[in-house]
Formats: sequence, structure tokens, C-alpha cells
Amino acid sequence: MAVLNIVHYGDPILRKKCAPVKDFSILGNLLEDMFDTMYEAEGIGLAANQVGFNLSLFIIDISHTEEADEPNIFINPKITLKGRDQNIYSEGCLSFPGITLDVVRPEKISLKYQTPDEIWHQDECTGLLSRAIQHEMDHLKGVYFIDRISQLDLMKYKQELLDIESSSKKQSVHPTHGSKRFVL
Ligand code: NI
Repeated sequence: MAVLNIVHYGDPILRKKCAPVKDFSILGNLLEDMFDTMYEAEGIGLAANQVGFNLSLFIIDISHTEEADEPNIFINPKITLKGRDQNIYSEGCLSFPGITLDVVRPEKISLKYQTPDEIWHQDECTGLLSRAIQHEMDHLKGVYFIDRISQLDLMKYKQELLDIESSSKKQSVHPTHGSKRFVL
């Protein structure tokens, strides 16, 4: 077991677009370490660049809900369709400890991705899974959840963001990715 360091807002790797995974043979240890790291931080999703790897993959575990029985791994994912209906959900992010934001996103998506056996899949996702996937997809593109709210709303978090930036080498002490509050 290896718990990796989660990089925080302020680290330039989080703003880089992730490179496609070509060599699947290197993934075994990384995926194991990513799951260890996500569970340790009590998160429900983690992108590779959040632990310093510039690779297009993320993991999600919402098996505590009725939506999934087991954790999911998404490699080289691409959203192929976004539904027209949108909803608001309260999101946290392991790279922004202590910040929770109401983010509007499409309710339904279609996703194309590979699993570690290199097989391609195409799924339609709704609910918490859709929400988590869209948050992680943003990470892979170098987009933050703070980019998805208005500048005015963001001003309220100016000090918190400065604090995270200045201590961005420290391990997360306020994991919030697991926030399950649904805002209606
Ligand atoms: Ni995040």
C-alpha cells in the first residue's frame, strides 16, 4: 500500500491537459496507489494528475450508494454526449481542501473510455456517477470546479484559495470530496 501526496490548487500540474495512456503495463501499481490514496483521503474520485501523474485516467468509488457495486476505473475517457437537463450539486475537491461549491452540470452524459484490459466501453451515466465523472473529466483537462462558478461567488473564497495555494505542499487535512449533500 502506498498513499501518494495529493497535489493542491497552486501546483501547475493541475492546469495541464493530461496525456493519453498508451502503455497500459505501467498502470497496475499506480491504480493501486491511487485507490489507497483516495480511500485514505475519504474521497469518492481521484484523477491521476491530482497525485502528480500527467495521464488521462481517473478512478471513482461510489459503491456506498445504490448506484454502483464496485469501484470504477476510467482510462482515456471522452464525454461523447451531454444531456440538456442540468442540476446543481454540492461538490468538494481533494485538491481544494475545505471548499465546497454548488456547481451546475448536465444531469446525463455518455462516456467512452477504456478499462485496464484496454477494452473500450461506452456508457450512459446519470446521478452521482455522472456528476463525479464530469468533475474528474475537468481535472484531466486542467479545469477546476472553481472555474464553473461565477466570479462573484468565487470572491467569497478568495482567502481560502490563497491559503490553499500557500500551503499547497501539505497533505489534505480536510477531505471534502465525499460530500454527498444534494442541493435542490
Ligand atoms: Ni477534484
